[in-house]
Amino acid sequence: MSDPSAVEVIRRKRDGRELSDEQIAWFLRGYTAGEVPDEQASALLMAILFRGLTERELATWTTLMIASGERLNLSGLSLPTIDKHSTGGVGDKISLPLVPLVAACGAAVPMLSGRGLGHTGGTLDKLEAIPGFRTKVSNAHFVTQLNTVGAGIIAAGPGLVPADQRLYALRDVTGTVESIPLIASSIMSKKIAEGTRALVLDVKVGAGAFMRDEDSARELAEIMVGLGEAHRVRTVALLTAMDAPLGRAVGNGLEVQEALDVLAGGGPSDVVELTVALAAEMLQLAGIDEDPAQALADGRAMDRWRAMVRAQGGDPDARLMTAPLREDVFAERSGIVERVDALAVGEAAWRLGAGRARKEDPVSPTAGVTLEVVEGDEVEAGAVLARLHADEEPALAAGREAFGPAIAIGSRSPRERPLVMGRVAPRGSR
Ligand code: URA
Repeated sequence: MSDPSAVEVIRRKRDGRELSDEQIAWFLRGYTAGEVPDEQASALLMAILFRGLTERELATWTTLMIASGERLNLSGLSLPTIDKHSTGGVGDKISLPLVPLVAACGAAVPMLSGRGLGHTGGTLDKLEAIPGFRTKVSNAHFVTQLNTVGAGIIAAGPGLVPADQRLYALRDVTGTVESIPLIASSIMSKKIAEGTRALVLDVKVGAGAFMRDEDSARELAEIMVGLGEAHRVRTVALLTAMDAPLGRAVGNGLEVQEALDVLAGGGPSDVVELTVALAAEMLQLAGIDEDPAQALADGRAMDRWRAMVRAQGGDPDARLMTAPLREDVFAERSGIVERVDALAVGEAAWRLGAGRARKEDPVSPTAGVTLEVVEGDEVEAGAVLARLHADEEPALAAGREAFGPAIAIGSRSPRERPLVMGRVAPRGSR
């Protein structure tokens, strides 16, 4: 089609008809170049949210997203490359111990990461709580670092899937983030363009995640695994629980401290369990026969962390800053902690200053929440449930209000739920 009208493309999807490859190409190219205006792109995204994309449309959409920018070439690395991506959760600092752990076991982990938006934190924001740590490095520096240290976590540059950078910002302000095909193509286009040969996806399920129920999480996982395979990136997904926050720390520097505890052989059991489970999947995909629990326990992962921090300009021995304001939250009654609500804790951390409402907002390296209890704990009235950390009074007040409903105390022990709820592997290799 030489000159399709934007209105015709929007109407077609609105009415539930399939778009041609030419129509998708015209739209993505035009929008990335600034020729299709936001209002027409918003209308098409909303039509996709309601009507979905067929398998063919999604394949074309993803391929053209990748083609909108550069692809990193990691083929010169001597080690097998493997990466991990999480769909985002509260207290999800797993990448921090995981990347050096997998590198310590013999793989190269080229992680291009993002910043947090809303109630979920971003890995780059966490790393920038480390004095001196640089998340912007050149491709050449990154490749050298992967050859020497085997681990790197950096910001995706503007050349990587520029179509997604524009579309994601628009989806964020038009209520069109929650579309399974749009999420799948957004995540997978970036991971495929990054040049990794294999990928493990951590698809979060629950109240604190994009995917609230297991069926939609599985659908998203299956679509992403299929896209990975179609682009020759070996991909496996774990479905993992995100009803309560991961670990006890939520907030940038607070989460770095918790990751350091894990690397030192301690830390909360759920963070350790998920780190080891994801590492085991990554090593299996990379064809490496090593026990990640051992590499965590014997300090090899910590050594790799320190080397990675140094390679990116940070000081692994620097003290992390702490927030000037701290306030405890007390139990109003005695009982059992029935629920710690990930969404409420995430929103509280965000209001305290750890997250941003708009892409360009700054974040505090010190603000956040530390939990003193987890689900199933027995507490007495007056016991400390959590501590709020903030840089200034208005943020503390906003965080206090948001934290209000986060912890429910009752009389029943909560139902035990597995952290790893399921696994999705490519057809024929389960
Ligand atoms: N993360 C992404 O990169 N894209 C989405 O669409 C959702 C989460």
